[in-house]
Amino acid sequence: MTVMKITWRSIIPSCSKGVVKPEGKPKKDVSKQGSFTRFAMLDFSYPSSMLSEDLSTSLAGSNLYVFTLGELRLITNSFSSANFLGQGGFGPVHKGFIDDKLRPGLKAQSVAVKLLDLEGLQGHREWLTEVIFLAQLRHPHLVKLIGYCCEEEHRLLVYEYMPRGSLENQLFRRYSVSLPWATRMKIALGAAKGLAYLHEAEKPVIYRDFKASNILLDSDYTAKLSDFGLAKDGPEGDDTHVSTRVMGTEGYAAPEYVMTGHLTVMSDVYSFGVVLLELLTGRRSLDKKRSPREQNLVEWARPILNDARKLGRIMDPRLEGQYSESTKGSCIGLSMP
Ligand SMILES: Nc1ncnc2c1ncn2[C@@H]1O[C@H](COP(=O)(O)OP(=O)(O)OP(=O)(O)O)[C@@H](O)[C@H]1O
Ligand SMILES: [Mg+2]
Repeated sequence: MTVMKITWRSIIPSCSKGVVKPEGKPKKDVSKQGSFTRFAMLDFSYPSSMLSEDLSTSLAGSNLYVFTLGELRLITNSFSSANFLGQGGFGPVHKGFIDDKLRPGLKAQSVAVKLLDLEGLQGHREWLTEVIFLAQLRHPHLVKLIGYCCEEEHRLLVYEYMPRGSLENQLFRRYSVSLPWATRMKIALGAAKGLAYLHEAEKPVIYRDFKASNILLDSDYTAKLSDFGLAKDGPEGDDTHVSTRVMGTEGYAAPEYVMTGHLTVMSDVYSFGVVLLELLTGRRSLDKKRSPREQNLVEWARPILNDARKLGRIMDPRLEGQYSESTKGSCIGLSMP
């Protein structure tokens, strides 16, 4: 597939209303990229000022809906606290409901509406990166972006609603039954499939923020990756890595990336190993409430993982032996940092 080099100006958001019309027939195979050539983020600069060209034109074929702020206010009951789902670095997330009264053809469904916090650390750059990547990538293990809103300085994203929230909430929630072993393995496998899809795409994508809070769970615990605000196009041609400003989350980011700024798909694989360790141990990658020796999960686990006689100590005691010894061994092997 040739990479369509398009200029920044051609992808700047417009605030037009309506659905982005597909150019051709939508593809049935969801595991393939969209029905148009995926374009790269790599060479773009990010002007903070609004320009008038049309993002929706560039995203033709993606089936994204463009919503107004008024519409999103309406469907979230004015972003009421009763609809509040959670808050991350981008801003608050609220539950809403959409159907074909809002737009003809729109499937009746619950959605999660993410609102950029205008005082926060993230901004237009992360919003646009998310829109561009998720508009072009579709897979059963990636959260589906339904649409977006860009009105004056406001930036919002509308996703399919994931009833079980994030893996972080499910795994580390204090007062709840612990996730069974089989569910943990289903989540690990689903997340791995999402990551493999990104890495094996014709034009690979490095996700860069693989962590428990970015793995969302459907009602049957199907895992879907969310948050593409830090995603990067992979190296091209003979290049082995992409050089970037170091970004990501402490406790999950690969040490070689943090030290050199050289980003590869292996940086995501490292973070996958950390999440797998979290699933096996029930411990957070970074937990300031623990004793200094145990705060960093990888540092605590490494000597234990290297000593076969001590391996049993690492497992989450709440699992109470729900796994076979051989499965435990394979998982520990995979999570080796
Ligand atoms: N599509 C969704 N369906 C249901 N809940 C969601 C959805 N997206 C986000 N949430 C909820 O909103 C919370 C905040 O999500 P968000 O991705 O903004 O932040 P985060 O992942 O916790 O932190 P970070 O900014 O570091 O990524 C999540 O913990 C999750 O519970
Ligand atoms: Mg997140």
